[in-house]
Order: sequence, then C-alpha cells, then structure tokens
Amino acid sequence: MNEHEINKKSLENAKKFFTSGKIEKIEIGTTKGLQMIHKELFDGLYDFAGKIRTVNISKGNFRFANFLYLEAALLAVEKMPEQTFNQIITKYVEMNICHPFMEGNGRSTRIWLDLILKNRIQKVINWQNIDKKKYLQAMERSPINDLELRCLIEPNLTEKINDREIIFKGIEQSYFYEQGE
Ligand SMILES: Nc1ncnc2c1ncn2[C@@H]1O[C@H](COP(=O)(O)OP(=O)(O)OP(=O)(O)O)[C@@H](O)[C@H]1O
Ligand SMILES: [Mg+2]
Repeated sequence: MNEHEINKKSLENAKKFFTSGKIEKIEIGTTKGLQMIHKELFDGLYDFAGKIRTVNISKGNFRFANFLYLEAALLAVEKMPEQTFNQIITKYVEMNICHPFMEGNGRSTRIWLDLILKNRIQKVINWQNIDKKKYLQAMERSPINDLELRCLIEPNLTEKINDREIIFKGIEQSYFYEQGE
C-alpha cells in the first residue's frame, strides 16, 4: 500500500471511529488515550499502530523527544493540567514535542486535542477554517512560543461539539494536512 492509499483507508477508519461511538470510550488527555486513537486510525495500515517509537525522529530542523527519555516525557505530559484553553494548548504542544509515533502523530494528536477541548471546555476546533500552511508554521514555532498557535486556534473554536458536519469536515481537513508531505 502506498502513502496515498494508507491515508485514504485511515480517513475511513477515523470516520468510523466517530460514527461507531468508539471515540466516546477514549481516555482524555493521557498517553494511553492517544495510543488508542493512533491504533484506531492506523490498525492494519502500519505495524506500529498504537506503539511508541524506539528511534529518534525529526522534521525540518526540529528533533522530537529523544526516545531514551520518551517514556518519562509522556508521563510528565499526561500529568499537565487541562482546565483552561491556554493550558490545553500548552499540553498539546508538549505532546507534539514528544511525537510518540513513527508516523501519524499530527492526525492522531489533533483528535486527542479535540477530545480534551470537548471534555474540559465544551468546545472543539473548526478545522475547516484553519489553513494548512498557517497551522504548520504555528506548529514549527510552537516549541519556542505557542502564541501563534493559540491565536490561530482560539477564533476557530466552536460550541457545536456534537455537530456531525463540523466534525466530519474537520477530520477531512485535518487529513488534508498530510497531503504534500
Ligand atoms: N518542524 C516542526 N516542529 C514541530 N512540530 C512539527 C514540525 N513539523 C511538523 N510538526 C508537527 O508534526 C505533525 C506531523 O507529524 P506526522 O507526520 O507524524 O503526522 P501525520 O499525521 O503523518 O501528518 P500531518 O500532521 O501532516 O497530517 C504536524 O502536523 C505538526 O503538528
Ligand atoms: Mg506524516
């Protein structure tokens, strides 16, 4: 299977994950919860679905958490508070720095983020309105300063947390970030 086919199948998995209601059973804000999301999205597509990486990886000129300390880093991140919008974004940024999987971190961690927002502040991100380029720039900047990311996300929060249209268009848009890689 090539990347395009994997992406297509994974998008179907993601949609089923929501429609089946399985998503409701995911632990909020934990590493285990994120692993479960990754497993749902990539089961049968990647042999490392749901599995924490054991090598170092980088993107651009940023190297994600060293695998030697990854377990400790993940334990620390899951303990981070998630009561306010700013706290949740800070936690998301730290989880992105952990980058626990070989591939598919963006797609699974954006769902993990949405679940925290939904449960803690009764809002989700309207990903439809978030431009891919701006999102990636903000993520690249985020280990140094998360202001740009907060400014990008905050105006695109919606209280329509159970709106299927918003959720589905959002997943599609979120998957679209992968194209052009
Ligand atoms: N230079 C960088 N510094 C920090 N984070 C980055 C950088 N480049 C990318 N990222 C983050 O890593 C994610 C991509 O990681 P990965 O390829 O594992 O996920 P994906 O789901 O396959 O891809 P995508 O997020 O593009 O759909 C991006 O979405 C972004 O959140
Ligand atoms: Mg990728």
